[in-house]
Amino acid sequence: MDRVGKVQTESRCPEKRPRKESVPALGSGAGRRKGNARAAAAGQALVKNFTNSPCRSRGGEGYVEFPDAGSTCAMTIPPELLARIDEAITHYPVSKRSAVLPVLHLLQHHFGFIQEEAIPWVAQKLGLENIQVAEVVTFYPGFRQSAPGKYHIRVCRTLSCAMAGSAELMEKLCEHAGIDRSHTDHHHPIAVSKDGKFSIEFAECLASCGSGPVCMVNDDFHEAITPEKAAALLDRYRAKA
Ligand code: FES
Repeated sequence: MDRVGKVQTESRCPEKRPRKESVPALGSGAGRRKGNARAAAAGQALVKNFTNSPCRSRGGEGYVEFPDAGSTCAMTIPPELLARIDEAITHYPVSKRSAVLPVLHLLQHHFGFIQEEAIPWVAQKLGLENIQVAEVVTFYPGFRQSAPGKYHIRVCRTLSCAMAGSAELMEKLCEHAGIDRSHTDHHHPIAVSKDGKFSIEFAECLASCGSGPVCMVNDDFHEAITPEKAAALLDRYRAKA
C-alpha cells in the first residue's frame, strides 16, 4: 500500500521533481538500459558539465552574448535569431518549457549543431534545469553535438537501405570525401573531412524505403544512390562550393 501510495504521489512533471532525483537518472539509467559502461560514463560527464554551469545572458540591442565578455565562450546569438526564438516561445503560452524542441531546432539550424554553451542558455530562457535541456539534446539523434562540415550527409542504414547497399555507399562517400570514420561511436557519430567541406553519419529510416539506398545532404534528399554514384553526388556539391 505504501509503495503504491508513493508511486501515485510522485509527480511525473520534471519541474516538480527534486533535482537530486533527476540528475543521477541520466547516467545510471542509460548505462543500465544499454548494459554499456561507456554510456553511463558519458551520462555522468553530461551531468557534470550541465548541472551547474553559469549562464548570464545580456539582452539589449545587437547581440546577446554569454556567459561574460572576454570569456572563451564563442556563442553569439544574432538579434534575428533571438527574435525567432522569442516568437517560437509565444506558441506555448501555458508553459514556455514546452518550447525546448523548437528552440533547439532554431539554434541548430543557425549554428549547425547544439553548442555546449547553448544548454545553459536554453535552460535559463525556458526556466528549466540545465540537465533537462541536456537530456533532450542527447535523447534525439537529430540534435548534433559537434560541428558538421559545410555539407552534412546522412546515410540511411535501416533495413531496406541496408539491404540495398547503404554500408557500401557510406564507404564510398567517405573514400571520395576523404573522411575517416574510425573514431566515431554511438556518442560521437559525426566524422568530418579534413577540408571541412563534408561530414557524414548514419541515420535511421529517412522515409523512402522503396528507393534505397537513400541519403540526405543538408536538406536535399537523394534516392537510389548506389555506391557507384557516390563520387558524382559529392562532385555536385563540390561544384557549388
Ligand atoms: S529504410 Fe532507408 S529510407 Fe526507410
